[in-house]
Amino acid sequence: MKRLIPSITLVCLLLGTKGTSAEEVRVAEDFGLFDQRGDFHQLSYYHNDPKTKGIVLFTHGIGCPLVRLRYQDLEKLSESYASRGIQFWMLNANDQDEYADLVEESDAYNLNLPILDDASQEVARSLGVDRTGEAILIETTGWQIVFRGAIDDRLTYEKRKPEAAEHYLKDALDALLDGKTVETEKVDAPGCLINYPAWEAHEEQPVSYAKDVAPLIREKCSGCHMKGGIGPFAFTSYRKARGWADMMREVVMTRRMPPWQADPHHGTFDQDLSLTPEEQQILLHWIEQGTQRGEGNDLLAINPPEAKPWMLGEPDHILDITEQHVPADGIIDYRYIHIDSPFDQDTWITGVDVLPGDRQALHHVIIYIVPRESDDERKRKWLTGYAPGVRGGLFPKDSGILLRKNERLLFELHYTSYGKETIDRTQIGLYLAEGKTEHDFRTGVFIDQSIKIPPHARAFPWSQSKDIKEDIILYSMNPHMHFRGKAMRFELETPDGKKETLVSVPNYNFNWQHTYVLAQPRRVPKGSKLILHAAWDNSERNPANPDPEREVPWGLQSSDEMFFGTFQYVLDRGQSVSGELLSSAQ
Ligand code: HEC
Repeated sequence: MKRLIPSITLVCLLLGTKGTSAEEVRVAEDFGLFDQRGDFHQLSYYHNDPKTKGIVLFTHGIGCPLVRLRYQDLEKLSESYASRGIQFWMLNANDQDEYADLVEESDAYNLNLPILDDASQEVARSLGVDRTGEAILIETTGWQIVFRGAIDDRLTYEKRKPEAAEHYLKDALDALLDGKTVETEKVDAPGCLINYPAWEAHEEQPVSYAKDVAPLIREKCSGCHMKGGIGPFAFTSYRKARGWADMMREVVMTRRMPPWQADPHHGTFDQDLSLTPEEQQILLHWIEQGTQRGEGNDLLAINPPEAKPWMLGEPDHILDITEQHVPADGIIDYRYIHIDSPFDQDTWITGVDVLPGDRQALHHVIIYIVPRESDDERKRKWLTGYAPGVRGGLFPKDSGILLRKNERLLFELHYTSYGKETIDRTQIGLYLAEGKTEHDFRTGVFIDQSIKIPPHARAFPWSQSKDIKEDIILYSMNPHMHFRGKAMRFELETPDGKKETLVSVPNYNFNWQHTYVLAQPRRVPKGSKLILHAAWDNSERNPANPDPEREVPWGLQSSDEMFFGTFQYVLDRGQSVSGELLSSAQ
């Protein structure tokens, strides 16, 4: 996809404060954003989509009359053009509008259309947006902006006509759909100005690698992008960071990196890898301003992070997973390995650490405790999950997981090939209690083996509800699906009927099997319900889908599917939990 960065510094000097001017932008850049309902929208998902010929972005802002007076127009246009392959998204980049405001506005005006939350303002800036109330029509084969401006000539500041004489957007849509050239490509769009304070501040004080960027990379990227880390390259100097700058822009704009798929609007999590809007701005503005080195030491070069062995100290017991051969290329199916309990008595485990053998090859490990003689998935007890950057850890204070002497450990191993044949020798470190722990660290399991996912479905939904029969303290949640997984969401309904999303992963990626650990453990009263919502994308749009023609059943192989989620908790006996986190290693 073409990008628009090269002449930006010059252009912004000439054209004001937001950086790029609308005249400059002919092609839209890929992006990924969450909307007010929690769905994730990525432009490139619709590339060459026979069902989506164009996407209209309408720049949104709360309180602007020229936006609110357009809601009805937009909903009507959306209704009449949906079947012809046009999607309508609103884009909110207003500095003053928060996510909660978007939800409130959407409810108050009964909006069906999504309002994309461009909290960092970077999507709007990349499109050269300076006002709300503008419609931007993007075609989906080459992302050309074929029209931008007012929907029609009905409204202007404080004045309106009963009927429009010109229908700019409609004309452009009809031309696009008829394969004709859009005659009027650009008209003025009256609306409210959008401020870009972060960009303005960075224009005053340009972003410096040494001062701003290196510490950020160290904190948010180096955990994987270090020597011996899982990332395919290491950020070890200014030169390396500068060389990766354009790719960094791409992965940040689309939220591909850092790999963290949870919607930031719901819950706060321990070891959250994602970038805040401010951090996105630092990286993106640095790149746009020409990757300046700035004064000061090169933190990444003088103090490179290293992959450390056991993060929680020497384990009480180390288990070796059988050597795994990983080919140089190709898709490797999940592997399942059983190891009998190494202990001759029942043992309480208080923490687990996973020491990957080959970090580049080992993508995730999930460890369950299972009965020795049965493969029944319903009897699986979750022990720990390892995903790069998010390792196991110690269980909550005074709690442990019982491993009976006649049980065994089940390892689900996911490898990815990386261009070189390799042998992985991963080890598991177990931390043990002396005797029995005061609390059981338990696992609740959502499972439904009756799923049948129809061919070609883009978002096939499923859900399951679980009654919580005792007071519990909830610590973490682990969504689990395979190649076709699209979205998973854990919802809590308390006895007073209130519903709340605990964690939502609307852009599920089977590569990253994160366990979402609540930054603050949550007391859940008995009589509550936990509900797990899932959706699969079994269409040809899903680039990981091995076969969109197939009706997909439950199965262990990643080419089959799972509706599977676990949550970890202890019984609530009034013990204190404040400030006590599931302390974990990175
Ligand atoms: C949890 C581990 C992890 C973290 C944290 C992480 N990365 Fe990555 N990164 C990876 C892996 C693994 C890949 C290779 C992905 C693949 O195989 O396609 C990758 C690939 C990339 C690529 C190459 C493009 C691509 O998609 O393959 C870029 C650029 C990148 N990362 C930038 C970053 C930046 C910038 C940060 C921090 C803001 C970051 N990453 C944080 C693991 C990580």
